[in-house]
Amino acid sequence: MLKRFYPMKKNFVSLPNESATSALGATLAKACDGTHIIYLYGDIGTGKTTFCRGFLQGLGYLGKVKSPTYTLVESYFLDLLTVYHFDFYRLANPEELEFIGIFDYFHQNTICLIEWPQQGKGFLPEADLKISFSNYNPGRLAKIQALSYDSIQLLKNLFKQNKL
Ligand SMILES: Nc1ncnc2c1ncn2[C@@H]1O[C@H](COP(=O)(O)OP(=O)(O)OP(=O)(O)O)[C@@H](O)[C@H]1O
Ligand SMILES: [Mg+2]
Repeated sequence: MLKRFYPMKKNFVSLPNESATSALGATLAKACDGTHIIYLYGDIGTGKTTFCRGFLQGLGYLGKVKSPTYTLVESYFLDLLTVYHFDFYRLANPEELEFIGIFDYFHQNTICLIEWPQQGKGFLPEADLKISFSNYNPGRLAKIQALSYDSIQLLKNLFKQNKL
């Protein structure tokens, strides 16, 4: 498969266009195994939802992926696992997360993709992976950080196999 994103300095990936952002999502989705919590940082319009769309497509989801800006969460019940896509941009207070029963979302066989996790600070479990998107010429830049043992291995393997 033609690579559409390009590795840069360690853990940085350049994303020259929208399909590169989706391709990064799809690549990580295919490598993710088991439970994963992915925090997605970046200013408005830097590609977080585009990444999630690619991620779901990478898992074989063919439907529409809407931004959860107003709904807080969109759920995708796939054959083997469930993906929850959160966007906390509009959260006025992190304590509101208790009212939506936030802890029920984080269990085995779920992947949680979280846009604007800083808005939920103190009410979210730690991330396995953190991806920070920023504007870059051309397109966007993604910085990928692995925080758990499994995701450190996952990231190492992807770079080693030249998939990132
Ligand atoms: N690598 C890229 N290069 C150029 N444009 C891109 C790239 N990735 C995504 N985009 C475009 O950026 C726009 C905003 O993307 P997206 O909605 O994914 O941002 P977001 O980070 O989720 O924003 P928000 O914080 O508002 O939720 C879209 O038009 C998308 O097509
Ligand atoms: Mg978004």
